[in-house]
Amino acid sequence: MAGVVIVGTQWGDEGKGKIVDILASSADLIVRFQGGSNAGHTVVIGDKKVILHQIPSGILSPRKKCIIGNGVVLDLEQLLKEISDLKSQGYMKDDNALLISEEAQLVMPYHKKLDVAREKARGKGKIGTTGRGIGPAYEDKVARVGIRLIDIFDPEVFRSKLEQALPEKNWYLTRLGEEGFDLDAIFQSFREMASKIKKHVANTSLVVNEGFRKKKNVLLEGAQGTMLDVDHGTYPFVTSSNTVAAQACTGSGIGPTMIDRVIGVSKAYTTRVGGGPFPTELNDETGERLREKGGEYGATTGRPRRCGWFDALVVRYAVRVNGIDSIALTKLDVLNGFSTLKICTGYRFRGKTYSEVPSSLRIWQECKPVYEEMDGWSEDISAAREVEKLPRNAKRYVREIEKLIGAKIMLVSIGNERKQTILLENPFKKVHTGKAKKGR
Ligand code: GDP
Ligand code: IMO
Ligand code: MG
Repeated sequence: MAGVVIVGTQWGDEGKGKIVDILASSADLIVRFQGGSNAGHTVVIGDKKVILHQIPSGILSPRKKCIIGNGVVLDLEQLLKEISDLKSQGYMKDDNALLISEEAQLVMPYHKKLDVAREKARGKGKIGTTGRGIGPAYEDKVARVGIRLIDIFDPEVFRSKLEQALPEKNWYLTRLGEEGFDLDAIFQSFREMASKIKKHVANTSLVVNEGFRKKKNVLLEGAQGTMLDVDHGTYPFVTSSNTVAAQACTGSGIGPTMIDRVIGVSKAYTTRVGGGPFPTELNDETGERLREKGGEYGATTGRPRRCGWFDALVVRYAVRVNGIDSIALTKLDVLNGFSTLKICTGYRFRGKTYSEVPSSLRIWQECKPVYEEMDGWSEDISAAREVEKLPRNAKRYVREIEKLIGAKIMLVSIGNERKQTILLENPFKKVHTGKAKKGR
């Protein structure tokens, strides 16, 4: 049995969906523990491409239990659509494959409208959110006025919570020049959705802990990335949840003693979608080339992703704040054909070179990257199935990243398809001899 956490080490979209899909074959339970439908995790199997927003990527593997944990802010309307899309593609044949925490907070229609209206009001200083209501939903959770999934199954409780929350939201929306919502209409639509989702609702903390007790392998799937973490990211240009590995516990109702391994997912370069600092961003032909070769367009919003060189400070920082054991390095194939590759090894600000990421937004925004250069490779590597088969310069690039970030690479991904993967070490297999298991 093992508890393995998967997290993004950059600004999201590192390829977590693909890595979870690969490791899910060794797992019994797969749990999402934070975020919501702002996430877009793409899995490609043969000629089928599936984008998952709230359902764990393990759902594409048969006979797995997938859980949406209490730390997720749940968009019911989107979720019902996601379920029906999966079914129409021939997945999720068994309804028992998906359980949702009764403690999950709900994203309400007013959260989505507020998210969009507030972004509009911010003008140039906007965060560039996905508009999925994530920030306003987490705000209500912390303000203790949120509505939890369990609430909509009791009409009296649900109505009274809506009566408490809605007048203030409508007041705020009107101030932002938007129309408010009708309480009865929301009540009715959520009562209808409640009956459709009921079969999936459970006390999921019990289920996950029971899984551990029965010596099952549990994979905990993070969304977004470390630099979007509300504490550890490039605040305020972040999402509204903790995205780091520690959240896997809070967001799924387990204790830290259940976690054996933390795997970070890193792209072989860097991307970011939305506003905020990005020291290695390339606003030139090279950036454009990465975007086109990497298909760097948002899985949730379709926005073009900003692209730049690999930033070793960012990933080394992620190794630290997540307690990462090893890294899955994705999209190495996208670098095929670049004659020179650059890796950022420092930030230069007012005559000083920093080797750790700063806390100050100003330094983030105004620093200039310090690069080391490496020779690239011209061969197509997408058919390689062993590291030894990679061109010499590709191997050197991987080893250099390992050295700079201080973590070893356990997987190299060289294409979006399941089989375009070089798995060097299976975290579930290795863990059985690991020291973390002692004393359990
Ligand atoms: P996530 O949010 O971290 O799950 O990542 P996304 O799914 O948003 O974005 C990653 C994109 O890269 C998806 O379209 C994947 O299909 C694709 N992808 C993943 N790994 C690789 C890889 O090794 N090579 C290439 N070319 N594409 C990949
Ligand atoms: P996955 O799980 C990339 C970004 C948004 C915006 C900021 C805040 O696919 O990696 P939010 O809607 O969360 O309030 O937006 O966070 N963002 C993501 N960027 N991948 C994601 O998820 C993201 N989820 C949110 O673009 O900059
Ligand atoms: Mg994504």
